[in-house]
Amino acid sequence: METRRIGIIMNGVTGRMGTNQHLIRSITAIIKQGGVRISPDLTLMPDPILTGRNENKLKALADAHGPGAIGKPYAYTTDVDGVIDGKHGDFEVFFDASGTLQRAGFLEKASASKMIKAIYCEKPTATETKEAVRLAEMVEKAGKKNGVVQDKLWLPSFRKLAMLKELGFFGDILSVKGDFGYWVFSGMDLDQPAQRPSWNYRAEDGGGMMIDMFCHWEYVISNLFGPIKSLVAYGNVDIPERRAEDGKPFKATADDSAYAMFLLEDGTMCQFNSSWCTRVRRDDLLTVHVDGTKGSAVAGLREVVTQAAANTPKPVWNPDIPQPIDFYAGWEEVPNNIEYDNAFKIQWELFLRHVALDEPFRWDLMAGARGVQLAELGMQSWKERCWVDVPKL
Ligand SMILES: NC(=O)c1ccc[n+]([C@@H]2O[C@H](COP(=O)([O-])OP(=O)(O)OC[C@H]3O[C@@H](n4cnc5c(N)ncnc54)[C@H](O)[C@@H]3O)[C@@H](O)[C@H]2O)c1
Repeated sequence: METRRIGIIMNGVTGRMGTNQHLIRSITAIIKQGGVRISPDLTLMPDPILTGRNENKLKALADAHGPGAIGKPYAYTTDVDGVIDGKHGDFEVFFDASGTLQRAGFLEKASASKMIKAIYCEKPTATETKEAVRLAEMVEKAGKKNGVVQDKLWLPSFRKLAMLKELGFFGDILSVKGDFGYWVFSGMDLDQPAQRPSWNYRAEDGGGMMIDMFCHWEYVISNLFGPIKSLVAYGNVDIPERRAEDGKPFKATADDSAYAMFLLEDGTMCQFNSSWCTRVRRDDLLTVHVDGTKGSAVAGLREVVTQAAANTPKPVWNPDIPQPIDFYAGWEEVPNNIEYDNAFKIQWELFLRHVALDEPFRWDLMAGARGVQLAELGMQSWKERCWVDVPKL
């Protein structure tokens, strides 16, 4: 029985995503479950070193999560350059969850290192397509395996949608409506602190709804429903002033709501609303409603409900009487026939298998660049007030 160690540099790990999704729910969870079991003879075991700028924050994380997983605090250092150069031991994977605008600098260093064999990072990889493509080509040219987080593909609900589609439940898919978002407090009001990082609302710091969410919509739509041919989009800065982490008000310069119609190559219309300025009255923070000739489905983050052609009620427009049909009652839940693991963790396990066993991994930096491209085209459509086609990358 071989346990193969995979050393992972986890950079930007003190951030919201780095800590919650990547360190706690992915890498620590994988270690606690005994690694990624490949066969009775082989297990892959991640061995992280936490990196960032603030020693105290790193130490607190290492102390909090290492002992329960490896019986001692995780290794950590503020010497990111040194660890990439092999001065702190052998770490073959470089992972980055730092801010979007910091990504390029870190990827350049990791790409130039002889020790690093593989690079994995958060989306978006950049805020401009040209830069995202440059990074993808640089890392490919350096011969490194690479990947970008595309976690939504492993949401239980989207797996269920994929299953319904494969079963032919929908017949021909006619249209898709995505509704995403919730109220993010501005921090300006008493006892209502902001619950997302303030850079999200500053374009100059890489923030903005389109650059944040269109990256996700690109891979969600193209993987579930097919390639996008063209789009029209509109964005807005709904809340002009917010309060930052330091307690000071700042001017919001990035779109906090975005509305888009994505027309697929096969003619399917996918319409997505994304907003940090909306109060939720729907099944979940993200709902995707798919209408097909033979049936429809509405997906939340985990659950999916369906209505088949044979169960479709016949409504009559009559505002003079109370609505006689309970429209929510005519839907059936898709059962949870398997256990769905954390989406980020599933993708991490696939990436580790790719690194150690050469298994295919198609969610690479060039796939990530297609997400950046869709966001950039969205902004172009918004500014120029027109439909734009999506060129093949
Ligand atoms: N996959 C997803 O669903 C998802 C969701 C939210 C955010 N993200 C992405 O993850 C990344 C991080 O977002 P977040 O919400 O965790 O932000 P955050 O502000 O909480 O974390 C950013 C991290 O980067 C570090 N950092 C910032 N500037 C740095 C610098 N100059 N040098 C080194 N480190 C630096 C910060 O210290 C912090 O640890 C962003 O690129 C964001 O777009 C992805």
